[in-house]
Amino acid sequence: MKASERAENAKDKEQEKIIIGVVGLGLMGCSISTCLLLAGHPVIAVAALPVDMEFAESRIRAHLSKSLEEGMTGERPEYYLENLRLTEDYGFLKPCGLVIECTMENLEIKKSVYQRIESQVSADALVASNTSAIPISILQQQTKCPERFFGLHWAEPSHTTRFLEIICGESSDPAKGEYLYETAWHWGKEPTLVRKDIRGFITNRLMYAMYREAFYLVENGYASVEDVDRACRNNPGYWMTLVGVFRWMDLTGVQSYHTVMKDLFPDLNSSTAVPKLIDDIVKAGGKGVSNAHGFYHYTAEEAKLWEETFKEFSYEIRKLALKYPADVVKKKLRKEKP
Ligand SMILES: NC(=O)c1ccc[n+]([C@@H]2O[C@H](COP(=O)([O-])OP(=O)(O)OC[C@H]3O[C@@H](n4cnc5c(N)ncnc54)[C@H](O)[C@@H]3O)[C@@H](O)[C@H]2O)c1
Repeated sequence: MKASERAENAKDKEQEKIIIGVVGLGLMGCSISTCLLLAGHPVIAVAALPVDMEFAESRIRAHLSKSLEEGMTGERPEYYLENLRLTEDYGFLKPCGLVIECTMENLEIKKSVYQRIESQVSADALVASNTSAIPISILQQQTKCPERFFGLHWAEPSHTTRFLEIICGESSDPAKGEYLYETAWHWGKEPTLVRKDIRGFITNRLMYAMYREAFYLVENGYASVEDVDRACRNNPGYWMTLVGVFRWMDLTGVQSYHTVMKDLFPDLNSSTAVPKLIDDIVKAGGKGVSNAHGFYHYTAEEAKLWEETFKEFSYEIRKLALKYPADVVKKKLRKEKP
């Protein structure tokens, strides 16, 4: 083994000793816990509501079983579950070096959870939120020690996706942000450090610009929901696991984008209203696949199959993504050198 590999292994072993708390064990809390267990960490998983206790273990076990079946690990779920403490007692968070809050998107609920976390953890522990959209600068104002507070924005299912945004708020200590960024590689992520807080962070800003335009096209009769989705899947969906938007423009010719922008930007939708199409669905109780009522019509069987198909796909796309990391070309060049 080379000295550099030995150093990497030693670093991994050091990382694995860090005990991590996850508070709130809904959809994301369970997959984040799974990711951290697979990375070798002891995990203290705190049920923010009693109902979390009913489902969390079976959800995490199912993720671990599927990870074994898909070759993400050679170990059985029991191996990892020994490292998991599932509890309603915040007191077990005391030894944690990092606690990740993963409760519903509500400032008051998150604030009360931070009080409970901070009453337990040591002064040097880090605290983070998986919020999708609440600015980190606002969330950290609800804590006693804002400088140790960060956004850790995961993508579901967190144990298969390579995505993780680490967001610094106005009062976050940048050195601690760098530390989280380094740590995230050890969790199997290709992380992004957002050095200055901005609403929606990176991917939500990009995605919501696309959602707005998609609604505009459908509501104004240019294309159907199915057609917009098909175009999306087969154009950006085709290349985005390999490259991001900037590398894509490099690959396909920067000059033509420059030309198109001049004509197209003034024509794009810039409305600030919530589109009627989604408003009507939400007001009628539609949630999407979870209650078989969304932009498409589903039978109960179809809705369930979409959920299963997404799960299956997330393991497949992970395998492909691992073959094409961000530095794929640099790696090829290193291999070719004698
Ligand atoms: N679902 C996603 O794809 C996704 C992606 C990125 C970020 N997020 C963010 O992650 C967080 C959790 O989302 P989720 O999808 O896991 O939600 P979820 O509905 O599956 O789970 C929410 C959890 O919040 C807690 N909770 C609910 N009501 C509470 C209350 N009154 N008091 C205390 N705790 C309460 C419970 O632990 C519950 O399990 C949110 O901030 C969400 O915006 C979600």
